[in-house]
Amino acid sequence: MSAIKRVAQIASSTAGKKLTLQEIGAQLDSSFRPKNAIQRMLLGKETPEDFKGINIKDPRVLSRYLSEAAIQGPDFLIVNSVELQPATITVTGAAGAIAYSLLFRLASGEMLGKNQPINLRLLERTEAMQALQGVVMELQDGAFPLLKNIVVTDDADEAFKDADYTFLVGAKPRSKGQERGDMLKENAAIFKEQGRSIDRVAKSSVLSVVVGNPANTNAMIASYNAPNTPRTSFTAMTRLDHDRALAQISKKVNCQVEDIDRFAIWGNHSSTQYPDLSHATIRGKWAWDLIKDEDWIYNKFIPRVQQRGAEIINARGKSSAASAADAALRHMRDWVLGSNKWVSMGVCSEGWYGITRGVWTSVPVQCFGDGKFGVIRDIPMSKESASRINKSIDELLQEKSMVKDLLPNQTLRGVEVDVDKVYNKKWFGLL
Ligand code: NAD
Ligand code: LMR
Repeated sequence: MSAIKRVAQIASSTAGKKLTLQEIGAQLDSSFRPKNAIQRMLLGKETPEDFKGINIKDPRVLSRYLSEAAIQGPDFLIVNSVELQPATITVTGAAGAIAYSLLFRLASGEMLGKNQPINLRLLERTEAMQALQGVVMELQDGAFPLLKNIVVTDDADEAFKDADYTFLVGAKPRSKGQERGDMLKENAAIFKEQGRSIDRVAKSSVLSVVVGNPANTNAMIASYNAPNTPRTSFTAMTRLDHDRALAQISKKVNCQVEDIDRFAIWGNHSSTQYPDLSHATIRGKWAWDLIKDEDWIYNKFIPRVQQRGAEIINARGKSSAASAADAALRHMRDWVLGSNKWVSMGVCSEGWYGITRGVWTSVPVQCFGDGKFGVIRDIPMSKESASRINKSIDELLQEKSMVKDLLPNQTLRGVEVDVDKVYNKKWFGLL
């Protein structure tokens, strides 16, 4: 039972009497069963007995107590206040390389936390069902306490049924020498069918991240084919690019990845993407000043992030998989649970910064949790940045024109779709 339902239950069990929030809180408190001194303290119900023989003036004792409370606190309060129902997560391409890393991390609670049970619904092509059975055996052998149920299918409607979250991974990867956009012909149709299916059978609150390439345009196709699902519920993954950039910056400046904020990937998940350092800060200081090396920024950092996927394919012979799974997990985790930093996500443009509306472009966002995010707005944009972003938006528009037959709903809910390329260029004064 969710915390909200539990509160509603308390309210209805005292029907006729309007409870104050304080009274509801007291009733929730009284249903907790603290087992030890720390738990009683967490609820403010400590007794004199709890302090007997403990010298809390000794800093070592106090710090032991505080760290125990910090460890026990969230678990104790969540487990006791909320009986969580399993969340349903659909993963497509479940026998593939990315899924082979992603599924086990989902099962161990890395996305939704160690208290949230999950059901997995796994979609594959009929030809890959036998391989998928092997993956399922391994999931079973992991004996993951949070993993309650696994459904395996080659039928999209069965896979997306009642899904809360979907990872749209299933698609062909590119090989050496190809661009991600080259995969459009082979992969685009998958997302038309899956968008329709999600619209038909998933929960109306479903959140979907598209990983399969070309991710931005595939997310757009899925959303256009899901007219009853909010366009903000389909996002494309550019988190891998974002995290790749953070790793390069932290190496260059010799800082922790967590020290970096206000970094952004703009545009397409392709070699035209714009990894934008112009607003980034490191421990609150402007990164540009700390890096002090424009040659590195323009001639090493930006091309390296843009080409990192190809660099990995050249080295490994196959495209990135474990790092892609990690990025997908972080993307979804932040989207669902919130983030206190800028992160990059491919979302449907509503015209901010003059970016053509109705294409899925990577932008910096702040995630507020529960599927809500806000695009970082109105940051000053240099001509250099604007022209790089424009180049990537132009590529997205080209991809869009290649798949126009797969886009039945030319007006997305709430977004007027631009039909030409003029809008974004005019905004940046490039015409
Ligand atoms: P993979 O070939 O190992 O696995 C893909 C799986 O998808 C295969 O098992 C295949 O049978 C399955 N599949 C194909 N069509 C399907 C369909 N219609 N329904 C269900 N399953 C289907 O590939 P991978 O390494 O896991 O990569 C998957 C995709 O993710 C590729 O397109 C790759 O380019 C992309 N990718 C994106 C990013 C990113 O940052 N956005 C990063 C890495 C990889
Ligand atoms: C990546 O960025 O690693 C993936 O998109 C795979 C690829 O084709 O580069």
